Amino acid sequence: HAEEKQQLYNAHELASRWFHHVLMSTEQGRPALEYLRSRGFSDKLISTFQIGYAPQMWDALTTFLQKREFALPLMEKGGLVAFHEERNQYYDRFRDRIMFPLHDEQGRIVGFAGRAIGDIQPKYLNTSETPIFHKSRLLYQFHEAKSTIRKNNQIVLFEGYVDLIKAWEAGVHNGVASMGTALTEEHVKLIRRYASRVVICYDGDDAGIEAAYKSLLLLERAGLAVNVVMLPDRMDPDEYITKYGGECFRHEVMHGAMSAVRFKLLYLKRNFSLHSEDGKLRYIRSALRIVAALRSPVEREYYLKELAEEYNFSLDTLKQELYALLRSSQ
Ligand code: CTP
Ligand code: MN
Ligand code: MN
Ligand code: MN
Ligand code: MN
Repeated sequence: HAEEKQQLYNAHELASRWFHHVLMSTEQGRPALEYLRSRGFSDKLISTFQIGYAPQMWDALTTFLQKREFALPLMEKGGLVAFHEERNQYYDRFRDRIMFPLHDEQGRIVGFAGRAIGDIQPKYLNTSETPIFHKSRLLYQFHEAKSTIRKNNQIVLFEGYVDLIKAWEAGVHNGVASMGTALTEEHVKLIRRYASRVVICYDGDDAGIEAAYKSLLLLERAGLAVNVVMLPDRMDPDEYITKYGGECFRHEVMHGAMSAVRFKLLYLKRNFSLHSEDGKLRYIRSALRIVAALRSPVEREYYLKELAEEYNFSLDTLKQELYALLRSSQ
């Protein structure tokens, strides 16, 4: 099995170099390169992240691998080629896609994410589970970011490949991306080995906010200190950087992240109609439950004061309500 795995590592490394070559130096790769440039990718950024292009053919990679004497059944296990039962032949799994190589913790290429050019579905086609690729354990670019993560004792979490790459260009070098999937316990374990502080920087749309809330709870349960960056106008980090520039983004990540409590309060607020009196009161009670869960009296008072001012209560009243809550939960 070790031999098979090594073959798969080799095949991925070779395929990745070939995809990159096709993107940068062939006529077939032209539209993909134009697309990347139109999204603000410089040639330097493209080579730093070894981005490539899988051509619009059925057997380009298959032939390439066959010529180098890789066993196609093994390549199928590794997710690089697929098998067509009726035609009884192997064919390229990724066609006409921009290829992002996915590295494991040690920096070996173990899979790919292929982005369609334009609006074709699915937008991203990822390697599925293989002997060397385990989606629930892998964080995109962890191998490059881990030294900075350890040094800063902080990790920044993104949703998407492009977000991470643009953030990296903007100087955020302790970022990883969970590749759209929900953060898993295994991801959290990996993170904990390197840092105790996490900044969640997901997309600003509803899906991103929901995912951020789930990740936040998971990370806090593991004892990590979490902050959240919420980007305006439903933008994702890539869109934000394109609009406001990298400098502005870096500042947002470093200084604009909100506390976990503030994010929870904002998240909670979305579920109440604050126009009605009833809604307001129910929101306040739920908000107090979040504040009550805080261990530090200073922090509690800080948010209590804010709630008091925002909803025009006296601090005393809110404190009484809070103590009642604490007593009833004991
Ligand atoms: N994703 C995926 N498969 C899809 C859609 C999304 O694996 N069909 C993952 C990808 O890792 C993607 C992330 O979820 O990067 C976030 O999805 P989304 O916000 O929709 O994509 P973006 O990262 O914004 O992609 P782009 O900017 O290229 O449109
Ligand atoms: Mn590499
Ligand atoms: Mn998204
Ligand atoms: Mn996005
Ligand atoms: Mn995007």
